[in-house]
Amino acid sequence: MEKQKPIGIFDSGVGGLSICHAIRRALPEENLVYFADIGFSPYGVKSKDIINERSEYIVSFLINQGCKAVVVACNTATVNTISNLRAKFSIPIIGVEPGIKPAALQSKTGIISVLATEQTLESDSFQRLMAKYSKAVKINAIACPKFVTLVENLEHYSEQAVDVAEQYIRPLLTEGSDQIILGCTHFSFLRTIIDQVVGQEANVIDTAAPVAMEVNRRLDKLNLLNSKNTDIYAEFWTSGDYAKVIEPMSQLWGQDIHLFAIRA
Ligand code: DGL
Repeated sequence: MEKQKPIGIFDSGVGGLSICHAIRRALPEENLVYFADIGFSPYGVKSKDIINERSEYIVSFLINQGCKAVVVACNTATVNTISNLRAKFSIPIIGVEPGIKPAALQSKTGIISVLATEQTLESDSFQRLMAKYSKAVKINAIACPKFVTLVENLEHYSEQAVDVAEQYIRPLLTEGSDQIILGCTHFSFLRTIIDQVVGQEANVIDTAAPVAMEVNRRLDKLNLLNSKNTDIYAEFWTSGDYAKVIEPMSQLWGQDIHLFAIRA
């Protein structure tokens, strides 16, 4: 039965697990297959062509694993490749992009900031999104590659993480930003530290829960939601080195996982 098939989810690394958590919370009866493309991470500094090639490969892989839909749990891959993926594959493909719209609507100071990867900020799709809202609000967009490394290295609660968050975010607050957008799925895992730096000065916008709601809507519309599932599972794949990946993936998922490493 189509409904019983799993949802495929992928990211360059462990960041997309933040979207996995949101999907598990919103749709607890869905089975999940997660692919962390750690052999080719970070995507944030790769060319659009490489990101596209990797995304196509992974979507094909997830379809071969029997997935009924794929969630691109990576802003960088979404803004650079989602139109191509949707043109190439017939299953539903849901992406994640920086929450500029809700931030612009909620801003009182008229200044908002996006934290993302270099390749997200440079993409045409992100530039169009900025252009659409930059008449209404001033948008600061900054690349935060150190955040990605901190999360991949499980240093997201470290002193160093606090220092890096201060360096990236303090100038934005000083300038009057009252909305800080997490435009990379890795950054959700830094939420405690980001909240600590931001305090009451701004609102932090994370799109993980809205993405899970969108997955719910899309599957419901296509009559693909799984219900009465008696064998709920989450399965994890990586193009990285098993010995290096098992610990961060298990910790960030919050329990022991079944991890399969493949040469991909
Ligand atoms: N987690 C990814 C994103 O949402 C990208 C991190 C990276 O590989 O640079 O953009």
